[in-house]
Amino acid sequence: MRILVVGSGGREHALVWAISRSAGDHEIQCAPGNPGTAALATNVAIAADDVDGLVKHAVSTGIDLCVVGPEVPLVMGLADRLRAKGIRVVGPSAAAAQLEGSKAFSKAFMERHGIPTAAYRTFSSADHADALAYVRKAGAPIVIKASGLAAGKGAVVCMTLSEAENTLAEMMQHNAFGEAGAEVVVEEFMEGEEASVFALCDGRDYVLLSHAQDHKRIGEGDTGPNTGGMGAYAPAPVLSDDLLQTASSRIIEPTLAGMAAEGAPYEGILYVGLMLTEVGPKVVGYNCRLGDPETQPVLMLLESDALDLFLAAAEGRLKDHQVRVSSESAACVVLASEGYPGPYEKGKRIEGVEAAGALDGVVVFQAGTRSSSEGLESSGGRVLAVTARGPDLKTALDRCYQAAALISFEGMQYRRDIGRKGLARLAAV
Ligand code: GLY
Repeated sequence: MRILVVGSGGREHALVWAISRSAGDHEIQCAPGNPGTAALATNVAIAADDVDGLVKHAVSTGIDLCVVGPEVPLVMGLADRLRAKGIRVVGPSAAAAQLEGSKAFSKAFMERHGIPTAAYRTFSSADHADALAYVRKAGAPIVIKASGLAAGKGAVVCMTLSEAENTLAEMMQHNAFGEAGAEVVVEEFMEGEEASVFALCDGRDYVLLSHAQDHKRIGEGDTGPNTGGMGAYAPAPVLSDDLLQTASSRIIEPTLAGMAAEGAPYEGILYVGLMLTEVGPKVVGYNCRLGDPETQPVLMLLESDALDLFLAAAEGRLKDHQVRVSSESAACVVLASEGYPGPYEKGKRIEGVEAAGALDGVVVFQAGTRSSSEGLESSGGRVLAVTARGPDLKTALDRCYQAAALISFEGMQYRRDIGRKGLARLAAV
């Protein structure tokens, strides 16, 4: 079996790692991949958003299964194009990927299907005056989102009215998010703790992978600007079995039924960002792919054969498929470049990855790295995702931090408080 993983980050290194542990004879390729994936797969120099190039490559090299990491090629229709060529895919059609590609679509979808989420209004960029009047009437805190894809930066939680007014001006008058801001969603601010659930879906049925909690801000104590994610842990102690059951019956199942009823059955990973409010879980947003860095601990806890599971999803056979998830914990600490999420320098020599990866229970997933004649060096904002599994969350976190201490590159920064909320919750029960 020949498998193509699309993408180049820590998430895709983790996908390649999980598939490489699957039983049987198979060849893994990763497009474009990174030096971490090159150790387990053949990297193919095609960008993740080069849909034509990926389809041509998949057809000409006889790819049997394609697992798509990032959202952009999915929203561009990569899964549809591959399926039209008879290639199995883990990833939704362009129509189904609208759940992430258009916040205006996903909010209206949730409204149509009675799925709990924050109250909202959508405005086109020409309606700045109406949006401003709405925000002034609603007051702060309030959430303003560019409707389209904005690399995780398009949702702004505005704590004051003047912040909300400035955000509307940036999005609607100064075009800060380009096309993604052509429509703007203004949402009620929800109080609670966030958690992420990951459902692998085949259009009709689904299985749940471990749930997780992300750390979006750059600074400790959840301060500073948003990033792609500075660390994660799985499972999320805040998500009790009861809450998960509620999320499944009131959110995941109606989402799958609703998409199927609207002619866009959902096949692939459905990542639901939840807010655990006083009145139950509500949807913060959908993503049409796995999270990064949540994937790294989530896949570390997957005990089922990953390839069998992905094939069952791609072939519509999840109904009777049992997924096995470890009862242990896993955590991930992201090592980032100095300056990230703002401008940063590349080309910093990285030391210690091998020694860190040799520690018990640790895997160092690579993200923004490249090989040079001198060895491994940084090439992105989020450079490495140091991930570890252990019998409990504390052990997993201790292992991550012991491993992180063995790694160095100039300007390396990371949060020292990953998992603290989870540990506090566990200590409280
Ligand atoms: N870590 C958040 C995301 O992948 O969207």
